[in-house]
Amino acid sequence: MKYPFYKPESINAASFAKYFDEINSRRWYTNNGPLVRLLTSRLEEYLDVKNLLLVSSGTVALQVAYKALQCTGRIYTTPLSFIASSSAFGWLGNEIHYADIDNRTLNLDPNSVRQLAALSEKDTVVATHLYGNPCDINAFDHLKNETQCKIIYDASHAFATRFQGQSILSLGDASTVSFHATKLYHTVEGGGVVFSNEDDLARAQKMINFGFNSQNEIEEVGINAKMSELHAAVGLVVLDDLGAIIERRRAIADQYRSILENTDVATTVVQEGTDLCSPSYMPIVLDSAYERERIQVSLLQDGIETRNYFDSLQSTTELFEEKHKVLPNSQCINKRVLCLPLYPELTSADITYICDRLQFNLANLRSEKPVSCA
Ligand SMILES: Cc1ncc(COP(=O)(O)O)c(C=O)c1O
Repeated sequence: MKYPFYKPESINAASFAKYFDEINSRRWYTNNGPLVRLLTSRLEEYLDVKNLLLVSSGTVALQVAYKALQCTGRIYTTPLSFIASSSAFGWLGNEIHYADIDNRTLNLDPNSVRQLAALSEKDTVVATHLYGNPCDINAFDHLKNETQCKIIYDASHAFATRFQGQSILSLGDASTVSFHATKLYHTVEGGGVVFSNEDDLARAQKMINFGFNSQNEIEEVGINAKMSELHAAVGLVVLDDLGAIIERRRAIADQYRSILENTDVATTVVQEGTDLCSPSYMPIVLDSAYERERIQVSLLQDGIETRNYFDSLQSTTELFEEKHKVLPNSQCINKRVLCLPLYPELTSADITYICDRLQFNLANLRSEKPVSCA
């Protein structure tokens, strides 16, 4: 495959070896070790956020956020996200309800949440910044002020996103992030939660370590969700190169957008107030499911791998199905969105080629002429 959909960031072996020797000589492999603490402070500085807690995955980050915020009630969320946005809460036995998306940004629509139910302080809204594009933060702030509901942002796609001068991770009652190997910034497996409130952080610190407090007494019902020293070492190594990685990815995303905005290929609308959309994904929106399927096949023949990303809406998967729920925007968009390859090794000429093939194949398809081999 000439252009695979994705290539995870490689880990510099020499830098990792230094940390590995350090870990081995200390024989402190996990349990809030020095490298986890160093990574926490370096990430807080890098992102300019406070109250960051590193955990073992982005899925558990959602669960820890919910528990530490002492949420008890229903979850209102988007059907268009990775399955973890629902299964994390399904696993906890929560009642999950889906609202519709805004079909321009593809994010959970605050008005649709509002129309769904009269929220109270018992309820939690979980909103994904899909493909790195911020949710309608101001509208969610209003919703929170009116109803006292809790807001958790799933920022797993949005590590580098900046909104109105700050990291997107600093927003909501808590923001969670995945550091899975397929993410822009990774620790192989891992995740984080940024809390707006220090007390919630303190509670979460105990919760991820079986509920132990600093005197080794059990104070909370806990779980084991700690990040290990080895994962933190990967995080420190990848962080060293992150500036250059983000710059390159940003240039690629900008080039895609500037080429595609002069064509009839639709892209998503970036939320107003966004300074930087984390350059991890390049979603386009085709006219129909049929068109998407045909384009995906013809691009594959050109050596270009693309992804639908979420094959079905969470609201229609058997486990989380809300029978008879009609979510027109989500149902329509989910069948039409397609992500193009995005990773630093792609050159400017590669992006031009990918866009050319996309336009060529689309023009052929729309004129219903057979796609030539040229
Ligand atoms: C939006 C979203 N939320 C949560 C997760 C779960 O993260 P993890 O794989 O680190 O558990 C992912 C992972 O891909 C994701 O894309």
